[in-house]
Amino acid sequence: MRRKLATGNWKMNGSLAGLDMLADVATAMGSDSAEAVICPPSAYLMPAVTAAQGTSVGIGAQDCHTESKGAFTGDISAPMIKDIGATYVIVGHSERREAHAESDADVARKAQAAWAADLTAIICIGESEADRSAGTTLDVIAKQLAGSLPDGCTGDNTVVAYEPIWAIGTGKIPTLDQIIEVHDFIRAELAKRFGSDVTDALRLLYGGSVKPDNAADIFKVENVDGALIGGASLKAADFVPILKALS
Ligand code: G3P
Repeated sequence: MRRKLATGNWKMNGSLAGLDMLADVATAMGSDSAEAVICPPSAYLMPAVTAAQGTSVGIGAQDCHTESKGAFTGDISAPMIKDIGATYVIVGHSERREAHAESDADVARKAQAAWAADLTAIICIGESEADRSAGTTLDVIAKQLAGSLPDGCTGDNTVVAYEPIWAIGTGKIPTLDQIIEVHDFIRAELAKRFGSDVTDALRLLYGGSVKPDNAADIFKVENVDGALIGGASLKAADFVPILKALS
């Protein structure tokens, strides 16, 4: 049985005061409810861990370096993220793939760095609008899965997030049939490579314009185990109803 997961990716948004929402999220969580994880910018990671202490809300980073330490100005490493008490790290978000020219191989190395530090890697994949129009979505997804997921994936060390780039921050959302098609495909590809025991335990998140008013429908899809949420994760008033739709 896969535990449902709502992960908030704050991107370069939020503030110290905005961490107050963690208390509301914690209060809203029932004992058997879905898991909630918030990934604030690195500047707020430590205060987020402190704010979430004693609650069941998890904290994650938005990226990590492939190396554990060294002359990499501005970067943070997976052991540092672990050291301050966070438990997750997003790797391979399309915004980093694009703005920082991260390749599938880079993403795989970051996932390995996360695992080595005992963090769960949330590995992001997703097609562009051009891929979708060209009818190559599943080819792109297959290539990203093959290149970005290292050998050794398990349900504990990895979560896969499918985020169609054209749906991120646009208010455009794939049809349920499109989500079903891609999530079924991802599960089948993972089963071919890692076997059904691993794949049955591995959570697949959908991301891209998830909001309180569309979350429940998306979560009815069999192979959707939760969501990676951008804009609607900044305020408890938006995030909590999404979390509740998962329970
Ligand atoms: O990682 C989450 C994301 O890219 C989706 O963003 O704002 O469309 O929910 P948003």
